Amino acid sequence: MILIIHAHPYPQRSRAGRTMLEAVRDLPDLEVRSLYDLYPDFDIDVAAEQAALLRADLVVWLHPVYWYSVPAMLKHWFDVVLLRGWAYGEGGDALQGKHCLWVATTGGRASSFTESGVHQLPFDEFAAPIRQTALFCGMEWEPPLALHGAHLIAEDEIAAAASAFRERLTQWSAVPHAKREIWRPNDFE
Ligand SMILES: Cc1cc2nc3c(=O)[nH]c(=O)nc-3n(C[C@H](O)[C@H](O)[C@H](O)COP(=O)(O)O)c2cc1C
Repeated sequence: MILIIHAHPYPQRSRAGRTMLEAVRDLPDLEVRSLYDLYPDFDIDVAAEQAALLRADLVVWLHPVYWYSVPAMLKHWFDVVLLRGWAYGEGGDALQGKHCLWVATTGGRASSFTESGVHQLPFDEFAAPIRQTALFCGMEWEPPLALHGAHLIAEDEIAAAASAFRERLTQWSAVPHAKREIWRPNDFE
């Protein structure tokens, strides 16, 4: 099962993230949990979130990049769901071996994530804390998908990214479990 943890504080104003989500919503064996819809008061149902994670083989974190990181709700979700003794530490093996795919949209163009660009660092540097969160919980880190310049690019570029995302999930489901470690998809960056 593929579990999409979707964190967008203003889903009705989302263009890129919404297109990405709508492109995959109808795939079989896929569950979407839109955190801001589920928990408008930030009161996350930890048991429900953990149960969803236990059902999943692939966990997707889909969100806009806010201040070089995840939106506040997803950070809160990390804090209250990925608990010691459950996700890490002694006895904390609930997520071991599950795969994690990070799907991020950014306002900055790809060219702005360079030493001479306005964000000064390669985008991968900003991925590090998110990647390490997954790795610390024993998850397998899939090559991320990043859609840059999300409010600057044309509709057809967003549609192409969304269709690449759908292809990625479709291929992931088709690959036998034993071969997943060596499978590497094409990125659209
Ligand atoms: C509070 C806030 C912080 C943001 N921080 C960043 C940032 O650090 N880097 C960046 O490239 N874009 C940043 N953005 C732009 C968003 O990432 C961008 O608007 C979003 O990915 C577009 O996707 P959407 O159409 O699904 O909303 C920020 C936007 C907001 C509202």
